[in-house]
Amino acid sequence: MRIIQAANYDELSARAAEILVAQVLLKPKSVLGLATGSTPVGAYQKMAEVCRAGRVSFSECHTVNLDEYVGLGPGDEQSYHTFMWENLFSHIDIPAEHTNLPDGKNLDAAAECARYDKVIADFGAIDIQILGIGHNGHIAFNEPADYFAAGTHHVELDESTIEANRRFFSSREEVPKSAYSMGLAPILHAKRVLLMVSGEAKADVLYKSLTGPITPQVPASILQLHSDLIVIADEAAAGKLA
Ligand code: GLP
Repeated sequence: MRIIQAANYDELSARAAEILVAQVLLKPKSVLGLATGSTPVGAYQKMAEVCRAGRVSFSECHTVNLDEYVGLGPGDEQSYHTFMWENLFSHIDIPAEHTNLPDGKNLDAAAECARYDKVIADFGAIDIQILGIGHNGHIAFNEPADYFAAGTHHVELDESTIEANRRFFSSREEVPKSAYSMGLAPILHAKRVLLMVSGEAKADVLYKSLTGPITPQVPASILQLHSDLIVIADEAAAGKLA
């Protein structure tokens, strides 16, 4: 595990973008595992700047996103699909057909989870997987549970996750109560994982995830088993790490 400490969010975003751009320069046909949430937004902006300046092209990349709310999809302002287009895809030169997210509009959960697992499996392995972390230790929408879920699954969101994500919706009632989430197998099989963590509110859960027991009660703790994990944390988030 490598821990890169950044002074602040801006530096964290710059470091993460440098690694992602380097990945694509070295392997233009990379499969990028992408995340939503506020943490990667700065890195996405910086990747777009480098692309606009003509110093990297994403035209041969493919992307797989971690998750999507059940019931939401393209055209819904709060969907992760819309989030990815607003924050990254429309600012870089990636063809739309190279981007992949679970289809939240498909209410046949078994069929959608199987479809998405096949999308991921057909790529072989993800070259680099970006992750944020929830306050309860969730990665993607793998919530604290009694077991680690390997494949894409339909998750009932934790009360704390609904509360944390409420800020993106006009009322709590509008926050979807469930999601389709990539499982932990493709994350563990990704060639490299880049975990981005910002802010004091994440310091405890980051410390627990990296130094505590590996337990499905803290889903991110499974990342301790990954052979190429890079953690980029700003000073506030890294506060409890030695
Ligand atoms: C969401 C997403 C996760 C994300 C996490 C943290 O629920 N499903 O992929 O990492 O919350 O989000 P943020 O970066 O906004 O703190």
